[in-house]
Amino acid sequence: MNDTKQEIPVEDLNVRKIRVPWINAETYFLFLILCFMPAFMPGQLKGGDLVMKTDKDGVMMLTEPVTKGCVSLEETLKTRESIRQFTDTPLTREEISQLLWAGQGITRRWGGRTAPSAGALYPLELYIALPEGIFHYNPKDHSLILQVDRNVLAALSRAALGQGCVRDAPAVILIAAVYERLETKYGSRGERYAKIEVGHAAQNILLQAVSLGLGAVPVGAYYDEEVKKVLKLPPRHEPLYLIPVGHPRR
Ligand SMILES: Cc1cc2nc3c(=O)[nH]c(=O)nc-3n(C[C@H](O)[C@H](O)[C@H](O)COP(=O)(O)O)c2cc1C
Repeated sequence: MNDTKQEIPVEDLNVRKIRVPWINAETYFLFLILCFMPAFMPGQLKGGDLVMKTDKDGVMMLTEPVTKGCVSLEETLKTRESIRQFTDTPLTREEISQLLWAGQGITRRWGGRTAPSAGALYPLELYIALPEGIFHYNPKDHSLILQVDRNVLAALSRAALGQGCVRDAPAVILIAAVYERLETKYGSRGERYAKIEVGHAAQNILLQAVSLGLGAVPVGAYYDEEVKKVLKLPPRHEPLYLIPVGHPRR
């Protein structure tokens, strides 16, 4: 009988040495599924340091707004300028909470808000487009309601004549108006009042952005119908202003 040992190539030996017998293809597959599972779970929308957690109805409560800041009103007025270039840093839930509160947050027991409104009829609706999707702001319980769970910022930028500030911002706030809410009391003057009110709300957001160390720009150049389509707005919500917000790229 020939008992000479069979030669094993050196490369083959190395392979055998590093092989861990209990990790087979199925185990790797399971491990990968576990790692990526949170990204596919409903109600778990992730974005940088910001995790947008919605409940099963797509609702996300925002953090309590802060009502004392370190920057004076005079400083925000002096510092404000249109910022059109942003870093990739996403906005935090606190920053989003603060910006939307500044725009339309409720500050009075009877429902009065941060911005004035003709006859206290509040025709404005705020939406925010984030990489995670489009959310509708509900001032009554200071929450966001998920409308569309995908990134529409590039499409929104195309609707805004391809403006880079809309495409590159980590968040774009839309202020829309429902004219009927004012027209029932003021007739044809209702539309004018809504268009005045949007300036109040927008300026609040712009100044709040400054006091948070963020930058923003009010954008009026866009195709109304395209914006409505991209943001899937209800039929009577008329888009009046887009406000890209983010960390200024200096
Ligand atoms: C009604 C309105 C519409 C505007 N639309 C745009 C716009 O579509 N794109 C843009 O980059 N800036 C837009 N702006 C910002 C102005 O260009 C900007 O306010 C102006 O140049 C003055 O600069 P400042 O905001 O830095 O003071 C708009 C401003 C207003 C008031």
